[in-house]
Amino acid sequence: MRVVTTREELRAARAGLGGAGEVGLVPTMGFLHEGHLSLVRRAAEENDATVVSIFVNPAQFGPAEDLAAYPRDLDHDLGLLAAAGVDLVWAPRVEDVYPAGFDTYVAPGGVADVLEGARRPGHFRGVATIISILFHLVAPRRAYFGQKDAQQVAVIRQLVRDLGLPVEIVACPIVREPDGLAMSSRNTYLTATDRPAALVLSRALRAAGQAWENGERDAEALRTIIREVLAAEPRAKVDYVSVADPRTLAELGTVDPAVGALASLAVRVGAPRLIDNLVLAPRA
Ligand code: PAJ
Repeated sequence: MRVVTTREELRAARAGLGGAGEVGLVPTMGFLHEGHLSLVRRAAEENDATVVSIFVNPAQFGPAEDLAAYPRDLDHDLGLLAAAGVDLVWAPRVEDVYPAGFDTYVAPGGVADVLEGARRPGHFRGVATIISILFHLVAPRRAYFGQKDAQQVAVIRQLVRDLGLPVEIVACPIVREPDGLAMSSRNTYLTATDRPAALVLSRALRAAGQAWENGERDAEALRTIIREVLAAEPRAKVDYVSVADPRTLAELGTVDPAVGALASLAVRVGAPRLIDNLVLAPRA
């Protein structure tokens, strides 16, 4: 496994993979857990070579967010990636990605304005910019993203469609702890008392999933079910609860059973702000 830092090194190392055939890319911010590794394994299975990026991208953090405190452990990450059979890791410094004078950003449209985008202005502009840079430098055949960040997947699919990028976007299922908590690097911020309280996110989504299975098609009724479960946990401070069109993320009145919906939420449990979601899959 090669580990490179600058753009030039990445370009040269990527050219060296040229004869290897199809390349799969997994973009990450490091501090890797099983969620990230599920993407890496899938990429390794489906491609001839696997490239992983590790970069805590300042452009996607707001001024009041946790950029400086974001957890990092590069040596540990590299051990995990080597064991997973990764061919090439790009772990750039901030100045490698954003050299002095950098002044071009990729601005996604409406799908980036709601939910996370409404609470975190500029977040998806930062994501779309780093993903565009990565796609150009790595030229992957496929890129792997977690459904954990469902809106990120929707924004990147829109980016790829609009710019005609020759990359297949593969969305991978959410990996959860045995008790249901969606894995996240930010779970390390949860205190011992907040950790059990954080289970309320997946519990609330499961309640909505059950109602959907039982025939509930009214989106506000589904949101109410989620809010009621969340309200029973005093440590949970709700940011938003959404039942939206899975592609545009526009809030729904009635869910079309042929299309389904994305149920998603953001909740603060103690210090960390956690997100989770559940696809309400189309029903015949
Ligand atoms: P990061 O939060 O490190 O996540 C990297 C990838 O791992 C994302 O596609 C994310 O959805 C996926 N992931 C995280 N937790 C997961 C889980 N529990 N199950 C499945 N997949 C999971 O998302 C980012 O980094 C950044 O925004 C990035 C795309 C790298 C751009 O900077």
